[in-house]
Amino acid sequence: MAAPRHGAFHPLTVAEVDRLTDDSVALTLRVPEELREDYRHAPGQHLTLRRTAPEGGVEVRRTYSICSPAPTADGPGPAHLRVGVRLVEGGEFSTFAHKEIAAGDVLDVMVPAGRFVLDPAAAPASGHYAAIVGGSGITPVLSIAASLLAARPDARFCLVRSDRTAASTMFLEEVADLKDRYPSRFQLVTVLSREEQESGLPSGRLDEERLTSLLPALLPVAEVTGWFLCGPYGLVQGAERTLHALGVSRTRVHEEIFHVEDTSPAPVRSAASAAAAAGRVTARLDGRSGTWPVQEGESLLDAVLRNRADAPYACKGGVCGTCRAFVVSGEVRMDRNFALEAEETDAGFVLACQSHPVTEEVEIDFDR
Ligand code: FES
Repeated sequence: MAAPRHGAFHPLTVAEVDRLTDDSVALTLRVPEELREDYRHAPGQHLTLRRTAPEGGVEVRRTYSICSPAPTADGPGPAHLRVGVRLVEGGEFSTFAHKEIAAGDVLDVMVPAGRFVLDPAAAPASGHYAAIVGGSGITPVLSIAASLLAARPDARFCLVRSDRTAASTMFLEEVADLKDRYPSRFQLVTVLSREEQESGLPSGRLDEERLTSLLPALLPVAEVTGWFLCGPYGLVQGAERTLHALGVSRTRVHEEIFHVEDTSPAPVRSAASAAAAAGRVTARLDGRSGTWPVQEGESLLDAVLRNRADAPYACKGGVCGTCRAFVVSGEVRMDRNFALEAEETDAGFVLACQSHPVTEEVEIDFDR
C-alpha cells in the first residue's frame, strides 16, 4: 500500500458536533474505509482543516489536535476522528466551526501530522508519564493518556491541568472517564484560576512557583519517563523552567504551544529575514523535485508554494510543524521555531515557513 502523502487533503464528513463548553465544541469526522490508513495517527497528532471563504475569499487553514485515542498498530485505521475547537474572539475558523459547521457538512482535512506524540508501543511497560496543560492544551494530551493507559496495563499517567473555571474546562467528562476507568494509574490535579474548588487547592495561576511546590508533592519527578507540556506560551515556558530547575533532563520534555489567537501568528520581519538574500531552492516533495528562485526576504516555503501548491503548511508562523523539511545541502536560517525539538534541528530539519537561504543554493526534502 502506498504511504499517505505528506500534507494531502481529503474531504471528510462531519458525523457530530458536540458542545463542550460555552466556547468550545468537538467535531467528529467520519473517515471512509479507503482512507483509514491515510488517517492513522499517533496519540498527540493534529489535523489541519481548510476553508476557502465564499466568493473568492482567501483560504484559511487551522490546526486542531485530535482528542480521540489512536488506533493500535495491528488494528485498522480510525473510522472516526475527533478534534476540539475553542472559540476565539474574532477567529475566522473557530467562529465558522461554532456557528456554521453541522453534522453532514463536508470539510477539507489534511492527513494527521505533528511530533508532539507518545507511541504507546515504544513506551516502557510500566512507564510513568506526566502532562502539564492549560486550557485547550488538554486536547492532544487526552488522546495521549487514553491511548497509553489502554495499551500499557502497568503504565501510569499524571495530568496537571489548569483552566479559568470548571464551566470553561474542555473535556471534563472524558477526563473523568479516565479517572473512573484507571483509578490507580491515572492521577488528576485541576487548578482553576478564577474559582475556588472542592479539592481544597486554592485558586490561582499555574505558575512556576506553584508548580515548584506542587510537582514534587505529587509524583517522583526524577523518575517520570516523559513530560508533555501543552498550552499557551507562558504556561509551557514556565513549566519547562520549573522542570529544568527540578533537574529533569531536556530530552524527557515534549512541548506544544497553542496560540491563543485564532489568526496565524504575524510573520517575523527580523532584520535578519528582511536582509535574507535571494537564492535558489531545490525542493523534493511527494517524490518529485524542482528548482526555483527565492526572492529577497521570502521564506523557502513561499518560494516553493509559488510553484507547488501542494507544499505542506498550516500556520506559517513556526508553531505547527507541518512544513518541516530536511536540509540536504546548503545553509538556511530560521526566524523562529516553536515546533521542532532540539534533536530535530540538530539532525538537519527546519521549518520551511521560517527559513531563508544563507547560501545561494539550498536543497530541502519535504518527504523525509
Ligand atoms: S506552517 Fe506551521 S510551522 Fe510552518
